[in-house]
Amino acid sequence: MPADRFSRKVVVITGASSGIGEALALRLASEGAWLALAARRAERLDALAAVCKERGGRALPLPADVADEAACRDLVARTVSEYGRLDMLVNNAGITVASLFSELPDLTLFRRVIDVNFLGAVSCTYNALPHLKQVAGRLVNVASLGAVLPIPANTSYIASKHAMLGFSDSLRMELSGSGVSVTVICPYWVVTEFHENMMDGQGRPRGVAGRRIYTRRTMTADQCARILVEAARKRKRQVVMAPGRLAQLGRLVAPALIDRVIIKAFFRPAVRRAQAQKQ
Ligand SMILES: NC(=O)c1ccc[n+]([C@@H]2O[C@H](COP(=O)([O-])OP(=O)(O)OC[C@H]3O[C@@H](n4cnc5c(N)ncnc54)[C@H](OP(=O)(O)O)[C@@H]3O)[C@@H](O)[C@H]2O)c1
Repeated sequence: MPADRFSRKVVVITGASSGIGEALALRLASEGAWLALAARRAERLDALAAVCKERGGRALPLPADVADEAACRDLVARTVSEYGRLDMLVNNAGITVASLFSELPDLTLFRRVIDVNFLGAVSCTYNALPHLKQVAGRLVNVASLGAVLPIPANTSYIASKHAMLGFSDSLRMELSGSGVSVTVICPYWVVTEFHENMMDGQGRPRGVAGRRIYTRRTMTADQCARILVEAARKRKRQVVMAPGRLAQLGRLVAPALIDRVIIKAFFRPAVRRAQAQKQ
Protein backbone atom coordinates (compact mmCIF):
# COMPACT_ATOMS: atom_id res chain seq x y z
CA MET A 1 0.00 0.00 0.00
CA PRO A 2 1.48 3.42 -0.92
CA ALA A 3 2.78 5.37 2.08
CA ASP A 4 0.55 8.33 1.35
CA ARG A 5 -2.67 6.40 1.88
CA PHE A 6 -4.52 6.79 5.16
CA SER A 7 -4.14 3.17 6.21
CA ARG A 8 -3.81 3.09 10.04
CA LYS A 9 -3.75 6.89 10.16
CA VAL A 10 -5.71 8.18 13.13
CA VAL A 11 -8.23 10.79 12.00
CA VAL A 12 -10.70 12.85 14.05
CA ILE A 13 -13.67 14.07 11.98
CA THR A 14 -16.10 16.56 13.50
CA GLY A 15 -19.54 16.75 11.93
CA ALA A 16 -19.28 13.07 11.00
CA SER A 17 -22.95 12.20 11.46
CA SER A 18 -24.03 13.36 7.99
CA GLY A 19 -23.04 14.97 4.71
CA ILE A 20 -19.40 15.69 3.93
CA GLY A 21 -18.13 14.33 7.26
CA GLU A 22 -19.97 11.04 6.81
CA ALA A 23 -18.78 10.67 3.20
CA LEU A 24 -15.24 11.45 4.32
CA ALA A 25 -15.40 8.81 7.06
CA LEU A 26 -16.52 6.19 4.53
CA ARG A 27 -13.73 7.09 2.09
CA LEU A 28 -11.04 7.04 4.76
CA ALA A 29 -12.39 3.79 6.23
CA SER A 30 -11.99 2.20 2.79
CA GLU A 31 -8.31 3.16 2.95
CA GLY A 32 -8.03 1.48 6.38
CA ALA A 33 -7.98 4.62 8.54
CA TRP A 34 -8.62 4.58 12.27
CA LEU A 35 -11.38 7.10 12.86
CA ALA A 36 -12.82 9.10 15.72
CA LEU A 37 -16.31 10.21 14.66
CA ALA A 38 -17.71 13.28 16.40
CA ALA A 39 -21.09 15.05 16.22
CA ARG A 40 -24.11 15.36 18.51
CA ARG A 41 -26.33 12.57 17.12
CA ALA A 42 -24.91 9.48 18.81
CA GLU A 43 -27.13 6.95 17.03
CA ARG A 44 -25.95 8.19 13.61
CA LEU A 45 -22.33 7.89 14.71
CA ASP A 46 -22.91 4.33 15.95
CA ALA A 47 -24.44 3.30 12.61
CA LEU A 48 -21.63 4.99 10.65
CA ALA A 49 -18.95 3.37 12.81
CA ALA A 50 -20.41 -0.05 12.01
CA VAL A 51 -20.23 0.62 8.24
CA CYS A 52 -16.69 2.02 8.54
CA LYS A 53 -15.59 -1.21 10.22
CA GLU A 54 -17.19 -3.27 7.44
CA ARG A 55 -15.13 -1.25 4.95
CA GLY A 56 -11.86 -2.10 6.65
CA GLY A 57 -11.31 0.82 9.00
CA ARG A 58 -11.53 1.17 12.75
CA ALA A 59 -14.07 3.64 14.11
CA LEU A 60 -14.89 5.12 17.47
CA PRO A 61 -18.14 7.08 17.83
CA LEU A 62 -17.55 10.01 20.18
CA PRO A 63 -20.67 12.15 20.61
CA ALA A 64 -19.68 15.77 21.23
CA ASP A 65 -20.94 19.32 20.83
CA VAL A 66 -17.93 21.21 19.49
CA ALA A 67 -19.25 24.47 20.96
CA ASP A 68 -18.36 22.96 24.34
CA GLU A 69 -14.64 23.45 24.97
CA ALA A 70 -14.45 20.58 27.46
CA ALA A 71 -16.09 18.25 24.92
CA CYS A 72 -13.38 19.12 22.36
CA ARG A 73 -10.66 18.40 24.91
CA ASP A 74 -12.30 15.09 25.75
CA LEU A 75 -12.70 14.19 22.07
CA VAL A 76 -8.97 14.49 21.43
CA ALA A 77 -8.00 12.81 24.73
CA ARG A 78 -10.27 9.81 24.10
CA THR A 79 -8.99 9.44 20.54
CA VAL A 80 -5.36 9.38 21.66
CA SER A 81 -6.16 7.06 24.55
CA GLU A 82 -7.87 4.60 22.15
CA TYR A 83 -5.41 4.69 19.22
CA GLY A 84 -2.18 5.97 20.78
CA ARG A 85 -1.73 8.99 18.52
CA LEU A 86 -3.44 11.49 16.21
CA ASP A 87 -2.44 12.01 12.57
CA MET A 88 -5.17 14.26 11.21
CA LEU A 89 -7.93 16.52 12.52
CA VAL A 90 -10.74 17.50 10.17
CA ASN A 91 -12.76 20.43 11.52
CA ASN A 92 -15.94 19.97 9.53
CA ALA A 93 -18.88 20.53 11.94
CA GLY A 94 -20.99 23.44 10.80
CA ILE A 95 -24.38 25.14 10.88
CA THR A 96 -25.86 28.19 9.21
CA VAL A 97 -28.55 30.86 9.53
CA ALA A 98 -30.14 32.53 6.51
CA SER A 99 -31.50 35.91 7.53
CA LEU A 100 -30.79 39.54 6.89
CA PHE A 101 -28.59 40.76 9.73
CA SER A 102 -31.04 43.54 10.60
CA GLU A 103 -33.89 41.02 10.87
CA LEU A 104 -32.26 38.84 13.54
CA PRO A 105 -34.29 39.29 16.75
CA ASP A 106 -31.03 39.32 18.78
CA LEU A 107 -27.51 37.92 18.50
CA THR A 108 -28.11 34.50 20.07
CA LEU A 109 -28.08 32.61 16.76
CA PHE A 110 -25.20 34.70 15.43
CA ARG A 111 -23.10 33.72 18.46
CA ARG A 112 -24.10 30.05 18.14
CA VAL A 113 -22.86 29.92 14.53
CA ILE A 114 -19.52 31.44 15.55
CA ASP A 115 -19.27 29.09 18.55
CA VAL A 116 -19.87 25.96 16.44
CA ASN A 117 -18.20 26.80 13.12
CA PHE A 118 -15.22 28.81 14.32
CA LEU A 119 -14.56 28.41 18.04
CA GLY A 120 -15.40 24.69 17.84
CA ALA A 121 -12.64 24.30 15.25
CA VAL A 122 -10.30 26.42 17.36
CA SER A 123 -10.93 24.29 20.48
CA CYS A 124 -10.39 21.01 18.65
CA THR A 125 -7.24 22.39 16.99
CA TYR A 126 -5.82 23.67 20.28
CA ASN A 127 -6.15 20.25 21.89
CA ALA A 128 -5.02 18.29 18.83
CA LEU A 129 -1.94 20.34 18.00
CA PRO A 130 0.54 18.81 20.48
CA HIS A 131 -0.33 15.37 19.08
CA LEU A 132 -0.20 16.48 15.43
CA LYS A 133 3.26 17.97 16.04
CA GLN A 134 4.54 14.60 17.27
CA VAL A 135 3.75 12.93 13.95
CA ALA A 136 4.04 15.82 11.44
CA GLY A 137 0.30 15.47 11.02
CA ARG A 138 -2.40 17.24 9.07
CA LEU A 139 -5.00 19.82 10.01
CA VAL A 140 -7.91 20.18 7.59
CA ASN A 141 -10.47 22.94 8.06
CA VAL A 142 -13.69 22.78 6.07
CA ALA A 143 -14.55 26.42 5.41
CA SER A 144 -16.72 27.41 2.43
CA LEU A 145 -16.62 29.32 -0.81
CA GLY A 146 -18.14 31.99 1.44
CA ALA A 147 -14.76 32.31 3.16
CA VAL A 148 -13.36 33.95 0.04
CA LEU A 149 -16.54 35.11 -1.68
CA PRO A 150 -19.17 36.54 0.68
CA ILE A 151 -22.89 36.35 -0.04
CA PRO A 152 -25.61 38.41 1.70
CA ALA A 153 -28.12 37.18 4.29
CA ASN A 154 -25.60 34.79 5.86
CA THR A 155 -23.49 37.21 7.94
CA SER A 156 -22.79 34.88 10.88
CA TYR A 157 -21.85 32.00 8.60
CA ILE A 158 -19.69 34.11 6.30
CA ALA A 159 -17.97 35.70 9.32
CA SER A 160 -17.32 32.28 10.88
CA LYS A 161 -15.75 30.95 7.68
CA HIS A 162 -13.64 34.09 7.15
CA ALA A 163 -12.44 33.67 10.73
CA MET A 164 -11.61 30.04 10.04
CA LEU A 165 -9.61 31.01 6.96
CA GLY A 166 -7.68 33.76 8.78
CA PHE A 167 -7.01 31.45 11.71
CA SER A 168 -5.74 28.73 9.39
CA ASP A 169 -3.50 31.07 7.37
CA SER A 170 -1.95 32.54 10.51
CA LEU A 171 -1.50 29.15 12.21
CA ARG A 172 0.10 27.70 9.06
CA MET A 173 2.88 30.27 9.34
CA GLU A 174 3.38 29.48 13.03
CA LEU A 175 3.67 25.82 12.14
CA SER A 176 6.19 26.21 9.33
CA GLY A 177 9.07 23.86 10.03
CA SER A 178 6.96 21.68 12.35
CA GLY A 179 5.88 19.30 9.59
CA VAL A 180 2.19 19.91 10.35
CA SER A 181 0.22 21.00 7.28
CA VAL A 182 -2.87 23.21 7.34
CA THR A 183 -5.37 22.72 4.51
CA VAL A 184 -8.50 24.83 4.02
CA ILE A 185 -11.32 23.43 1.92
CA CYS A 186 -13.75 25.94 0.41
CA PRO A 187 -16.67 24.02 -1.14
CA TYR A 188 -19.40 25.49 -3.27
CA TRP A 189 -22.86 24.02 -2.52
CA VAL A 190 -22.88 20.32 -1.73
CA VAL A 191 -25.96 18.09 -1.49
CA THR A 192 -26.19 17.28 2.23
CA GLU A 193 -28.56 18.02 5.09
CA PHE A 194 -26.89 21.41 5.49
CA HIS A 195 -29.50 23.49 3.69
CA GLU A 196 -32.35 21.53 5.31
CA ASN A 197 -30.89 22.34 8.71
CA MET A 198 -30.23 25.96 7.65
CA MET A 199 -32.16 28.09 10.16
CA ASP A 200 -34.18 31.20 9.57
CA GLY A 201 -33.72 34.20 11.86
CA GLN A 202 -36.03 32.59 14.44
CA GLY A 203 -33.92 29.42 14.57
CA ARG A 204 -36.41 27.30 12.56
CA PRO A 205 -34.84 24.79 10.14
CA ARG A 206 -35.79 25.39 6.50
CA GLY A 207 -36.50 21.69 5.89
CA VAL A 208 -36.33 20.22 2.37
CA ALA A 209 -37.20 23.65 0.93
CA GLY A 210 -33.64 24.63 1.84
CA ARG A 211 -32.36 22.41 -0.97
CA ARG A 212 -34.17 24.43 -3.61
CA ILE A 213 -31.29 26.85 -3.93
CA TYR A 214 -29.14 24.16 -5.54
CA THR A 215 -27.83 24.64 -9.07
CA ARG A 216 -26.46 22.17 -11.59
CA ARG A 217 -22.96 22.81 -10.22
CA THR A 218 -23.92 21.47 -6.79
CA MET A 219 -21.77 18.42 -6.03
CA THR A 220 -22.38 15.28 -3.98
CA ALA A 221 -20.92 14.84 -0.51
CA ASP A 222 -18.76 12.01 -1.83
CA GLN A 223 -17.33 14.21 -4.61
CA CYS A 224 -16.49 16.82 -2.01
CA ALA A 225 -14.94 14.20 0.30
CA ARG A 226 -12.79 12.92 -2.58
CA ILE A 227 -11.42 16.41 -3.20
CA LEU A 228 -10.80 16.85 0.52
CA VAL A 229 -8.91 13.55 0.84
CA GLU A 230 -6.67 14.38 -2.14
CA ALA A 231 -5.96 17.87 -0.80
CA ALA A 232 -5.08 16.48 2.63
CA ARG A 233 -2.93 13.76 1.08
CA LYS A 234 -0.96 16.36 -0.90
CA ARG A 235 -0.91 18.78 2.04
CA LYS A 236 -2.39 21.56 -0.11
CA ARG A 237 -2.86 25.02 1.44
CA GLN A 238 -6.33 25.71 0.10
CA VAL A 239 -8.86 24.32 -2.32
CA VAL A 240 -11.48 26.70 -3.68
CA MET A 241 -14.11 24.77 -5.59
CA ALA A 242 -15.71 25.79 -8.84
CA PRO A 243 -17.38 28.10 -9.73
CA GLY A 244 -15.66 30.32 -7.19
CA ARG A 245 -12.06 30.62 -8.38
CA LEU A 246 -12.64 33.14 -11.14
CA ALA A 247 -14.90 35.31 -8.98
CA GLN A 248 -12.32 35.12 -6.18
CA LEU A 249 -9.67 36.51 -8.52
CA GLY A 250 -12.10 39.10 -9.90
CA ARG A 251 -12.83 40.28 -6.37
CA LEU A 252 -9.17 41.22 -5.92
CA VAL A 253 -9.33 43.49 -8.96
CA ALA A 254 -12.89 44.84 -8.89
CA PRO A 255 -14.60 44.01 -5.58
CA ALA A 256 -17.65 46.28 -6.07
CA LEU A 257 -18.33 44.77 -9.49
CA ILE A 258 -18.11 41.23 -8.11
CA ASP A 259 -20.49 42.20 -5.27
CA ARG A 260 -23.03 43.33 -7.88
CA VAL A 261 -22.54 40.16 -9.92
CA ILE A 262 -23.04 37.96 -6.84
CA ILE A 263 -26.25 39.78 -5.88
CA LYS A 264 -27.64 39.81 -9.41
CA ALA A 265 -26.50 36.53 -10.91
CA PHE A 266 -26.33 34.34 -7.84
CA PHE A 267 -28.12 35.61 -4.76
CA ARG A 268 -31.36 36.99 -6.25
CA PRO A 269 -31.92 33.93 -8.49
CA ALA A 270 -31.37 31.64 -5.46
CA VAL A 271 -33.95 33.61 -3.44
CA ARG A 272 -36.36 33.49 -6.43
CA ARG A 273 -35.91 29.71 -6.81
CA ALA A 274 -36.60 29.20 -3.11
CA GLN A 275 -39.67 31.50 -3.16
CA ALA A 276 -41.12 30.12 -6.41
CA GLN A 277 -41.23 26.59 -5.03
CA LYS A 278 -42.73 27.71 -1.72
CA GLN A 279 -45.91 28.82 -3.53
N1 LIG B 1 -23.37 21.65 2.02
C1 LIG B 1 -22.84 22.74 1.50
O1 LIG B 1 -23.37 23.29 0.50
C2 LIG B 1 -21.57 23.33 2.07
C3 LIG B 1 -20.89 24.30 1.31
C4 LIG B 1 -19.74 24.86 1.82
C5 LIG B 1 -19.26 24.46 3.07
N2 LIG B 1 -19.93 23.52 3.78
C6 LIG B 1 -19.39 23.15 5.09
O2 LIG B 1 -19.24 21.76 5.17
C7 LIG B 1 -19.31 21.35 6.53
C8 LIG B 1 -20.17 20.10 6.63
O3 LIG B 1 -21.49 20.44 6.24
P1 LIG B 1 -22.44 19.44 5.42
O4 LIG B 1 -22.73 20.09 4.14
O5 LIG B 1 -21.90 18.06 5.44
O6 LIG B 1 -23.78 19.57 6.30
P2 LIG B 1 -24.54 18.54 7.26
O7 LIG B 1 -24.91 17.31 6.54
O8 LIG B 1 -25.62 19.35 7.89
O9 LIG B 1 -23.43 18.18 8.33
C9 LIG B 1 -23.08 19.05 9.38
C10 LIG B 1 -22.44 18.22 10.45
O10 LIG B 1 -22.06 19.09 11.54
C11 LIG B 1 -22.51 18.50 12.75
N3 LIG B 1 -22.72 19.50 13.76
C12 LIG B 1 -23.56 20.56 13.73
N4 LIG B 1 -23.50 21.24 14.88
C13 LIG B 1 -22.60 20.59 15.67
C14 LIG B 1 -22.10 20.78 16.97
N5 LIG B 1 -22.52 21.81 17.74
N6 LIG B 1 -21.17 19.92 17.46
C15 LIG B 1 -20.76 18.87 16.71
N7 LIG B 1 -21.18 18.64 15.46
C16 LIG B 1 -22.10 19.48 14.96
C17 LIG B 1 -23.79 17.76 12.37
O11 LIG B 1 -24.06 16.71 13.26
P3 LIG B 1 -25.04 16.74 14.52
O12 LIG B 1 -26.27 17.49 14.11
O13 LIG B 1 -25.28 15.28 14.77
O14 LIG B 1 -24.28 17.38 15.62
C18 LIG B 1 -23.38 17.17 11.03
O15 LIG B 1 -22.67 15.98 11.23
C19 LIG B 1 -19.83 22.55 7.31
O16 LIG B 1 -18.78 23.15 8.02
C20 LIG B 1 -20.33 23.49 6.24
O17 LIG B 1 -20.21 24.85 6.61
C21 LIG B 1 -21.08 22.95 3.31
